[in-house]
Amino acid sequence: MSFIHNAWYVACWSDDVKPGALFSRTLLNQRVVFYRKADGQAAALQDRCPHRFIPLSMGKLSGDVIECAYHGLQFDCSGRCTKNPHGDGKIPAAAQVRSYPVEDRHGMLWIWMGEEAADPALIPDYSVLDAAAGYQVTRGCIHIAANYELMGENLLDLSHITYLHDGYLGSPEQVGADQTVKEEGGRLHCNRWMPNISVPGIFDMLYRRDGKPVDMWTHMTWMPPSCFLLDTGVQQAGLAEREQQGWYYGVHILTPETERTTHYHFAAALPAGTRLAPEDAATFAQMRRYAFEEQDKPIIDAQQAAIGEADFWSLKPVLLTVDAGPIRMRRSLEKLRQAEVAKRTAAAAPADATRAPAPQVTQTA
Ligand code: FES
Ligand SMILES: [Fe+2]
Repeated sequence: MSFIHNAWYVACWSDDVKPGALFSRTLLNQRVVFYRKADGQAAALQDRCPHRFIPLSMGKLSGDVIECAYHGLQFDCSGRCTKNPHGDGKIPAAAQVRSYPVEDRHGMLWIWMGEEAADPALIPDYSVLDAAAGYQVTRGCIHIAANYELMGENLLDLSHITYLHDGYLGSPEQVGADQTVKEEGGRLHCNRWMPNISVPGIFDMLYRRDGKPVDMWTHMTWMPPSCFLLDTGVQQAGLAEREQQGWYYGVHILTPETERTTHYHFAAALPAGTRLAPEDAATFAQMRRYAFEEQDKPIIDAQQAAIGEADFWSLKPVLLTVDAGPIRMRRSLEKLRQAEVAKRTAAAAPADATRAPAPQVTQTA
């Protein structure tokens, strides 16, 4: 299975890349080194010296260039070798590493690893995380030992919260939710409406702290290939309008590390009216992290281990009504992958034709 390359992915939280330091992460099977230039702008380079393939992240940052730890070649933020300390100092043409477009946006560092031109306008809007939006934000990142599509299915099928997150995010009556799945402009909306349910712990804390039944919604939007935004909350059972106190936006962003591992960034943005005391904000963040790290992760890791190298569809998975969203996501991803491969093949075709002209056929009578 190949990745979709022509897309923005979250490499890390912006403050993971600190001034004067090198930060390395594997994304889409490629090791990348990040740093900040003297002006604070982020840079990203292939994390492999072209000389003897040592990770450049083992080297040192000197101004705006990285010096390789092994023999001292230096590379600037465009990936060009700017110094060869050996011999006559001539720089071999091949002394070059790939550089990647990056953007700091909404507290995250986004990277574009495709061959097409990077357009920052395509970065999904997570402005609820910006200080200017006035939300109270908590955030985290965990590592999942599974392909990102398995984690994506988890996010698009929130029926699992009744079972996996009972008491934290879920409660037993949620299983009877009204569910709608809708595609709009390439995005997928998976909505669940759960009237008159016992209030899950995390929402009771955000809402009235009285343990009384509530109506609850989870509206999850998927933005291909791997960005998700959840609008979720509770309100007084039977009340037609949403109250301010019982809801938040959940940010869930998956970045493939390898075919079988994923970086999972998550955040929550609580509206100003909710503003939790610091100790409650810490409890809220801990509950969410516990749900993702101690409840989702073991299941998804085990799911990947059980699937192993097998193709997902070859195992003939049983399909339930709750799979409507996940299946649409899988189909959309497959289409996007095929479109990317077709474009690449078409772009390569004229060059191949010039390199290897078709043999001349001589007609003989
Ligand atoms: S391995 Fe980097 S300079 Fe030799
Ligand atoms: Fe979950």
